[in-house]
This record gives sequence, structure tokens and C-alpha cells, in this order.
Amino acid sequence: MKTAVFSTRSYDKTLLTAANTRALHELRFLQDRLTANTASLAAGCEAVCVFVNDSVDAEVLAILAGQGTRLVATRSTGYNQIDAAAAARLGIEVVRVTDYSPYSVAEFAVGLLLAVNRKIARASARTRDGNFELDGLMGFDLHGKTVGVIGTGKIGTIFARVMLGFGCTVLGYDQYRNPAFEAMGGHYMSTVDLVPDCDVISLHCPLTPETKHIVNAESLARVKRGAILINTSRGGLVDTEAAIAALKTGQLGGLAIDVYEQEASLFFQDLSSTIIEDDVIQRLVSFHNVIVTGHQGFFTQEAIGQIMQTTIESISAFEAGTELVNRVPVS
Ligand code: NAI
Repeated sequence: MKTAVFSTRSYDKTLLTAANTRALHELRFLQDRLTANTASLAAGCEAVCVFVNDSVDAEVLAILAGQGTRLVATRSTGYNQIDAAAAARLGIEVVRVTDYSPYSVAEFAVGLLLAVNRKIARASARTRDGNFELDGLMGFDLHGKTVGVIGTGKIGTIFARVMLGFGCTVLGYDQYRNPAFEAMGGHYMSTVDLVPDCDVISLHCPLTPETKHIVNAESLARVKRGAILINTSRGGLVDTEAAIAALKTGQLGGLAIDVYEQEASLFFQDLSSTIIEDDVIQRLVSFHNVIVTGHQGFFTQEAIGQIMQTTIESISAFEAGTELVNRVPVS
């Protein structure tokens, strides 16, 4: 099936081509992000394959539908970038990758926590410069601390298990209780307002209208002073300006983010030779107690291999008219 693959990087091309060896779909690799301006590049393609920062809103979907697209396949678990209701109205099926190594993101969240708490990136930068001082590098033991996990699905539960292994008390918040989380020793908070007990808060829920800016000025005022916030989920969960204000007063003791609300114009590209116009991200990276990574939580051999395999299988299933097991639900 003719498929336009937007936001292609070299690894996408290599791995999607490898996954396509048997199916032999006709893949049109495009470096551009999908927007209303670039949608015409998919002309004649029945399937369009997108990633997290492509813009798949009603306007873009209408253009795609007019050009003959009938399937949108996102190479991600999250699908907040896609207007699934508009797609349904236009008769376009939407599929995602529900199951790929959740360890990739959970382990990365643990890495970010260790790095920000123990100032590992700062220490490494110092020693490269011949500075072996310890001043400013003190962290705290995770053992015995309380960790809040917002969203106890696949990734949140694995993150929780690792934190329990460190000897932490783990509190969870979710719309739905996950028996596996409780069985391993996690305790559910009845509301997200119990976060004041937490030394560390890690976000693992999807971005939805209900969770947008779930971390905001009000909730940050209630966190334990000096708490560390980790966000590997979606940038829109955090009101970044409010987080910056909390960092300035010390209310937030550390922040590590793999996702950023305005990441679409920044992430997955080398901007090191340009002037970055986004003052918010520039302010964020200026804090010594902030770590920003460019949406790489999923980026392990296991996870990305599975993402490509599932994406090709979904395109094949659509072509064959068989069940789409990874169909995005329309709310
Ligand atoms: P999942 O669907 O297994 O778990 C999400 C959990 O969030 C569910 O238990 C759900 O009930 C809960 N939830 C939904 N709305 C909520 C609300 N309003 N309040 C509290 N909890 C709520 O998803 P999974 O696989 O664990 O992924 C979680 C998120 O991680 C994804 O939505 C995605 O945004 C992000 N992600 C980030 C990646 C990265 O590279 N940084 C890669 C993959 C996923």
C-alpha cells in the first residue's frame, strides 16, 4: 500500500524498511512534519504514517481525505496529536502502537530521576572541564522517600516497581485502579491532592483535555517543598511557565523533562547552529537543577523495532481488510 511516512529520520527509514521486507508496502519517506502546508506530499497515498509532533488536526485530515488517504498510522502510543473524531467523520481509520517495550520509557524516567537528583549531568560537565569539586552536587537518598506516580498504566507500573526496589513508598493516582500496581506494594491516592506527601512525582498519564496542565501553579504550590518532578509523558501535562516560577522560588527542587509542550518546533532536529527563539525552553535549560531531553524515552532497540513492526502489520491488516487491533478509540 502506498504510504507517506512523515517526520522520517535516518533510523525510521532503516528500521521501517527492514520491517517492510515481506509486506513490501510502497513507502514514501518524508523528512517534513505533517502540517496543512505539507499534507500535499502525501497525495496518492492511501496510508499516512506519522509521529508525535505531526499535526493531524481536522484541517489536515480533510486535506488527506481529499487526496485519498484512508488510514493514519502513528508510530507512537500517545495519539493526542490526532483528531480521532474528525478522522472518524471523514472515514479515515487511525491506528497506533499500543504495545511496545514500556521498559524503554520507565527506565528512562528512572535515569532522569537519578541524573537530576544526583546532578550527574552537571558533574560530568564539570569533570570534563577539570573541576572535581563536590560543592553543589549533593542529592538525597531515594531509599525511604515517597514517590508519586500519576498514571499507573504500563509505563507507570514499571516505574513504580523500580522505585519500590529502591526502597521508596510509592503512591499512585489513576482514574482506574490497576491491581498489578497494588499487588506489588503501591498505594492509591484517592485524589491527586495527596501529592504533598511526595518527594518525587513522575507523570505517566496520557495528554487529554482532563490532564492538560495537570501540573500548574496551584498544584505546584501544594507539592512538598523541594520535590522533584519528572515528565516523560507529554509536554502539555505541565504548565511550563508555572514550573519555571516554582523552580525560581525553590518550591520545585528539580525538574527533568523528556517532553515539552512546545516541542513540535524544536525536537528531533539539530538546531545547534541556529538562534532558538523559544525563551521558555532557553530559561528552562539555564537552571542547574533541570534536565531536558528531546523525547527519547522510547528510543531503545527493543521499543523502536516493535514500533516499526506493529506499524507495518497495521498497514497490512488495513490493506487486507482484517481486524485493526491497534485502532485508536474515538471518544
Ligand atoms: P497506558 O494507557 O498503559 O497508561 C496510562 C494510564 O494513565 C492509564 O492507567 C490511564 O487510566 C491513566 N489515566 C488516563 N487519564 C488519567 C487521568 N485523568 N488521571 C490519572 N490517570 C489517568 O499508557 P502507557 O503505555 O503507560 O503510556 C503512558 C504515556 O507515556 C503515553 O500516554 C504517552 O503520552 C507517554 N509516552 C512517552 C514516550 C516517550 O518517548 N517519552 C513513549 C511512549 C509513551
